[in-house]
Amino acid sequence: MGDLSRRGFLQSAAAVAAAGALADAVAEAEQPQPAAASPAGPVVVSSANGMRATQKAAEVIAAGGDTLDAVVAGVNIVEEDPADMTVGYGGLPNEDGVVELDSSVMHGPTCRAGAVAALRSIKTPSRVAKLVLERTDHVLIVGEGALRFARAHGFEEVNLLTDEARKVWLEWKERHSEDDDWIPPEVPEADRESRRVVPRGFTYGTITCLGLNAKREVSGVTTTSGLSFKIPGRVGDSPIIGAGLFVDNEVGAAGSTGRGEAVLKICGAHSVVEAMRGGMAPVDACLHALKRIVATTTEKRLRLKDGRPNFDVKFYALSRDGRFGGAAIWSGGKYAVFAEGRNRLEECAFLYEKPKSESK
Ligand code: GLY
Repeated sequence: MGDLSRRGFLQSAAAVAAAGALADAVAEAEQPQPAAASPAGPVVVSSANGMRATQKAAEVIAAGGDTLDAVVAGVNIVEEDPADMTVGYGGLPNEDGVVELDSSVMHGPTCRAGAVAALRSIKTPSRVAKLVLERTDHVLIVGEGALRFARAHGFEEVNLLTDEARKVWLEWKERHSEDDDWIPPEVPEADRESRRVVPRGFTYGTITCLGLNAKREVSGVTTTSGLSFKIPGRVGDSPIIGAGLFVDNEVGAAGSTGRGEAVLKICGAHSVVEAMRGGMAPVDACLHALKRIVATTTEKRLRLKDGRPNFDVKFYALSRDGRFGGAAIWSGGKYAVFAEGRNRLEECAFLYEKPKSESK
């Protein structure tokens, strides 16, 4: 905030607070708009589940806070919210019914990174990832080592599996195979769909949050419970620097949500940032990386009959001059943005129009 006058700062802080009051009232996304913003105030970009994160991060930046502190404070709200079953506490578990969390952070001004993967029992993996950045000589700590590291820093251990998530897992467990001894409850055929607790096609979910201040400092965080019902120990793109998150203070930042295996294979977020370095606008850089995913998805089981991917990935990008964008393989996606004093959802660009009857 060093280059804002006190008056400008107070106006900026007031605008952020006013937007906060409006945020709860935002029910529907606005129409697509030119993805450009003045970097004079905070610019924060997140996945669609990150409206509270963008608001919080913008408030922290407007108050003079560091961009990494800001985005981590933003995603902490979602990590601690049991209602979001894709992130942190209440996230869907692995195939054994155990929640394992992944997160990474990058701080643009110092070019530093930290991450944790397959972390159990800690609600806020992004805060542990930030401590890996700040208090170790490492970038990534996984599994039992990550838990012991969190313990050493005084994090409270909790059972991350909420009753709601347990019921979803149990339904999956009882229904996913007829070749085991788990049997679902007797439900009349007609009631089956209405009694279903596992959302159809629900497999991936994540939050990413990228923040920029008036000094053109950029930071980012990605945090997730990963693929639901995964093989224990599976690690997706979110905690991998260059895949689920990449920040370069000279260019900007990118993050991803969706099928992590596809993002890992193309070093997704790094590809987006490098495309921006080469001169692409953020939204074009996201589309460029998505095309690489389509080109590298060779497995028949991952393609529709017409050859297009049967899954979705979204990239989100923020350039150091305050431009931003989001794009998905399939239409219908949205992303959260705080820019020019306004918090809102915007529509993602996309490669393919989603068939009305299909759920991706
Ligand atoms: N993108 C989240 C994951 O695949 O784990």
